[in-house]
Amino acid sequence: MTVQTIIRMGHPTLRSAAQLFPVNRIGSPSFDVLVADMRETLHAYGGIGLAAPQIDVSYQVVVIEIENTTTRYGEIESMPFTVIINPTISVIDEQVAGYWEGCLSIPGLMGFVERPQHVRIDYLDEAGAARSIEPKGFLATVFQHELDHLHGKLYVDRMKDPTLFAFEDEYNAFHAETREPTPEE
Ligand code: NI
Repeated sequence: MTVQTIIRMGHPTLRSAAQLFPVNRIGSPSFDVLVADMRETLHAYGGIGLAAPQIDVSYQVVVIEIENTTTRYGEIESMPFTVIINPTISVIDEQVAGYWEGCLSIPGLMGFVERPQHVRIDYLDEAGAARSIEPKGFLATVFQHELDHLHGKLYVDRMKDPTLFAFEDEYNAFHAETREPTPEE
């Protein structure tokens, strides 16, 4: 298990569509190493979600782990370490809500993004079993942010108001009291 370097905006892999992960390789030694590396890297960087393209592995694999709610991040539901392979998304409710998003591939910056707040994700788990989840609210935003990474998209592409794009210090000084902040993904 190795903490991998997270590549940053400007690296072409972040702008490429990731390939489906070969189903017959789920559970293989190389798959286990990938998941372990993603977990270690997520922990080392202090994030809540990581997509394989962020460590320059262009496959459709995402990990999400949200620990207990902290006051810094407002009210966030926790989610145990979850591996999401080859996900598809559908919108259950088009109603949007906005959060300030951060991204480990865009360090030091935050931007306000509105996204649908109830979606369905169909995916394979780390045992290759078909699963689905219907996250709402903040968790729906987290899933959409991570799945975007599998399609070469970054949250900056989703921003509608460039005045709501800030360095973290300025976010904390001028915006944090009025908006829900979002941990880095
Ligand atoms: Ni991200």
